[in-house]
Amino acid sequence: MEKEIKRIGVFTSGGDAPGMNAGVRSVVRSCIYFGYEVVGIMNGYHGMIEGDFIKMDSSSVSNIIQRGGTILKTARSKEFMTEEGREKAYKQLQKAGIDALVAIGGNGTFTGADKLSKEHQVPVVGMPGTIDNDLFGTDFTIGYDTALNTVIEAVDKIRDTASSHNRLFFIEVMGRDAGFIALNTGIACGAEDILIPEETTSIDDLIKILDRGFRQNKNSGIIIVAEGDDSGGAINIAKKVNELYDHYETRVTILGHIQRGGSPTCADRVLASRMGYESVKAIKNGYKGIMVGIVDDQVAYTPLSKAIKHHNIMNKDLMEIARVLSL
Ligand code: F6P
Repeated sequence: MEKEIKRIGVFTSGGDAPGMNAGVRSVVRSCIYFGYEVVGIMNGYHGMIEGDFIKMDSSSVSNIIQRGGTILKTARSKEFMTEEGREKAYKQLQKAGIDALVAIGGNGTFTGADKLSKEHQVPVVGMPGTIDNDLFGTDFTIGYDTALNTVIEAVDKIRDTASSHNRLFFIEVMGRDAGFIALNTGIACGAEDILIPEETTSIDDLIKILDRGFRQNKNSGIIIVAEGDDSGGAINIAKKVNELYDHYETRVTILGHIQRGGSPTCADRVLASRMGYESVKAIKNGYKGIMVGIVDDQVAYTPLSKAIKHHNIMNKDLMEIARVLSL
């Protein structure tokens, strides 16, 4: 017979994402609503191994829905990647009487969660929280919309100075393995070209695009580069272009961790609130080892192993549209 669930632990792990706090708030309040005790696990898997737990009530999550970052802190734990690490974490959970977990994070978080749930039969439900939008089984991940808006605000500002100085800017955005941020912000900012890991980058093709623009009297430009691009990031690409083509004075901007902070957008707050509630409901209904997603505005459950392995599919039409419109 399945063990009765009385106490649920919630934690955030991996790279933080705006809206994680809204997610924690939703999990805590939904647990209270459904009659569960709820415990916050600090510092992700690191805190789970250390037994860094705090009891949470409704007021623990007051006034956080609008805040970026995560009140539970986050970490990337090497120890949890080992069987011994997970064994230690499991013992801490048992000692604290935590019967089930809600894990908020991305690929690394779910890889760990999947192992923990399989090795020690801990019911775990995942909530996709990452700015990268690279998980299968949900149209959007928590934090992605805010990151997009942060990027376009920054790129619009760079466009002003690029245009004043007649310069070509290579702007690097986050996305180790996924070009969602690059592609969507590139379209939104009218970038001259967008370089993403999902497509092989040809420096020759890029130069052709730049030269076509130059001949049409474009005297400045923006190239958006996803950090995981196969040509090696914005610095390298700018260098390669400069060696072969010198019609533009170039500059490089790496937007970096600014993309991970800030107050979440309305879309991210609502998404996180929905997912938090649905995660607790999923635990109540006996689900385990799954990620809660929203697909076509409906709740969808995907096995954690599948959410990690299958990349969200890049919409090829968007790439085509970007090229047509940047003429
Ligand atoms: O996974 C989210 C992410 O922001 C990636 O886009 C990026 O490559 C990575 O995290 C950066 O991680 P860190 O904060 O550990 O440098």
